[in-house]
Amino acid sequence: MADGPRSATARAHSNIAFVKYWGNRDHRLRLPANSSISMNLADLHTTTTVAWERSLRLDTLRINGALAADSALERVRNHLDMLRARFKTRRYARVCSMNNFPMGTGIASSASAFAALTMAAGTALGLNLSERELSILARMGSGSAARSIPSGYVEWHAGHSHETSFAETFASSDHWKLIDVIAIVSRAHKRTGSSAGHETAGSSVLQPARIGSAADRMGAVKSAIMRRDFEQFASVVEEDSNLMHAVMMTSDPPLLYWAPLSFAIMKEVRHWRTVEHLQVCFTLDAGPNVHCICASTDADAVVARLQALSSELEILRSTVGCGAYILKP
Ligand code: PMV
Repeated sequence: MADGPRSATARAHSNIAFVKYWGNRDHRLRLPANSSISMNLADLHTTTTVAWERSLRLDTLRINGALAADSALERVRNHLDMLRARFKTRRYARVCSMNNFPMGTGIASSASAFAALTMAAGTALGLNLSERELSILARMGSGSAARSIPSGYVEWHAGHSHETSFAETFASSDHWKLIDVIAIVSRAHKRTGSSAGHETAGSSVLQPARIGSAADRMGAVKSAIMRRDFEQFASVVEEDSNLMHAVMMTSDPPLLYWAPLSFAIMKEVRHWRTVEHLQVCFTLDAGPNVHCICASTDADAVVARLQALSSELEILRSTVGCGAYILKP
């Protein structure tokens, strides 16, 4: 490698899962207990520059301009350690990361963050990694980051080894213009993050049932997306979210992510679909915010109804996004 800094800038989008990843078969490798499906979110992204510099004695991290410390820095350093070992470099990196979505809104940034970090780090080292290799490496930072590498509608194959656990596109972003209308119920930082949650998932007696039936939901969601069948899509997506939260609630210690307003919105969404015939369904990750997935024709009506429920509710909205890409090699 030449003496000067080697740097690259990559952008990756966040994603929302329709069949969730919860629990690992192998925690060290982040091999998930089940395969999962998501769509990338075009309007929520992380842009990361990685500069490998000979003069650095430690990795540094800036998030939205501010120097990061503690757990965020430690997680990035662990990921860079893994990349250093794999790509045989002894250089440390200066990492600058910008999220275009408000930080601290309870919208997970780890998927877009580790996808962008992995792509920028590899490109800066002059490596021409395939999409599959990038997905495998991003997975080591955050499981859901594996799904932010490919474009559009994505399936993460659980796999049975490090090399076989990766995500790939099964439908392009323009195949079906779904919209994610996100109701920000709470901005509070979650007390138990997903990494800790994956470790306790196995303590719920419901987890084997969720895992055992995940392949059926994968098939049903995939076929609903391919046929643009909103009714089938909605019923399986809501069932899968409820199953994951049932596992969370019955784990030791129990994880109770829903707030009263989350629950009220979930009930309203079902009413809007079944009685008012809007094409909308809900799904929630490891937090109280409600992702209302809707047909593009019904997104404005869903936003108006959410605002009518609570005028102070903050709402984000996104269409289907592309995969991770390099902005500046
Ligand atoms: O990638 P992680 O470790 O943040 O886990 C993501 C877990 C969920 O968001 C709850 C589900 C998912 O599949 O994205």
